[in-house]
Amino acid sequence: MTASQHFSTRAIHSGQTPDPTTGAVIPPIYQTSTFVQDGVGGFRNGYEYARGTNPTRSSLETLVADLEGATHGFSFSSGLAGEDALLRAVLAPGSRVVMGNDVYGGTHRLVNRLHVPWGVELRTVELTDLDAVRAAVTPGTTVLWVETPSNPLMKISDIAALAEIGHAAGAIVVVDNTFASPYLQNPLALGADVVVHSTTKYLGGHSDVLGGAVVTSNDEIAEKVGFVQFAAGAVSGPMDAWLTVRGIKTLALRIERHSSNAHAIAEALVGHPSIERVYYPGLADHPGHEIAARQMRGFGGMLSLGLVGGAASARSLVESTEVFLLAESLGGVESLIGYPSEMTHASVRGTELEVPDNIVRLSVGIEGVDDLVGDILQALDR
Ligand SMILES: Cc1ncc(COP(=O)(O)O)c(C=O)c1O
Repeated sequence: MTASQHFSTRAIHSGQTPDPTTGAVIPPIYQTSTFVQDGVGGFRNGYEYARGTNPTRSSLETLVADLEGATHGFSFSSGLAGEDALLRAVLAPGSRVVMGNDVYGGTHRLVNRLHVPWGVELRTVELTDLDAVRAAVTPGTTVLWVETPSNPLMKISDIAALAEIGHAAGAIVVVDNTFASPYLQNPLALGADVVVHSTTKYLGGHSDVLGGAVVTSNDEIAEKVGFVQFAAGAVSGPMDAWLTVRGIKTLALRIERHSSNAHAIAEALVGHPSIERVYYPGLADHPGHEIAARQMRGFGGMLSLGLVGGAASARSLVESTEVFLLAESLGGVESLIGYPSEMTHASVRGTELEVPDNIVRLSVGIEGVDDLVGDILQALDR
């Protein structure tokens, strides 16, 4: 595939050569742990043992790298497994990580509970305040970790500006692109060094498989991540890789619909007496709207609501929808509703990353938009 081809074309064909043996249009699931050798060390096409490489996983790695405009891709058993592999590859005792003060709770927990005890320093900062970032990202910072749009407050950070600040301090700039997906945002083109994804979300797209991806065009970082992937082995299995590849084929269509549905819901809820604030970057009065319009191709399928009645109203809403299912996770074809302070972000309660208890998060699916708007309105009326 060539970079000049349309995203949708690459999403369907990149890394997806028909099977050379049978001509199967869909590359098979290579459900094997090992590969025969023609004499000691005589590997066919470089395949030796599946922790190192497996053709189904290679397909996915090529595909995600291509969609992000990267030269190297690595696929893992979950988003956090990928994040951990990347961090272990680039950090050492004494390293400093700076991340947003509303980063996904699991990412914060990973660094704070697993890496900090090994001598890593963690600082959190308001990423939308570039002066605050400049003050926090001092020389000696190894990683500047950016998540935009952020989870669940939908803050938008300026990737190009943050990359400049990070690089001036000698830091590796990592962007978690899970919420936007490569269809809406390509952080490497904006100056970031590494992109991570929880492929569990929009890339897989059907809430049926866990996975993570790390992509980069930096050869040195790629070599280190590849080594951790091989040495520690948190790889995605062939079935999981295949399901993720299948999901990605429809990414463009799905994201278009996720985005238009979310935008319609956001507009329908602005001004509702039970809603204090709608957090959606597509709304013109969202503080990050202009940056989002510049660095994204659309505003995505995630939005959050601040309820007038506090925690009780938020809980009542999430327990009263019928089409929106009350569940963790996001990015699937079905609409999900969640209560971050006690679900996805429970691990950061009591810290400065705590999510206000009147916040409800919606992962807007691709169902009929009237059914979705109607469902939220009836649940607010209960
Ligand atoms: C923004 C973001 N990054 C990373 C992750 C972690 O991914 P996984 O659950 O696949 O480990 C999540 C999970 O919710 C997420 O929302």
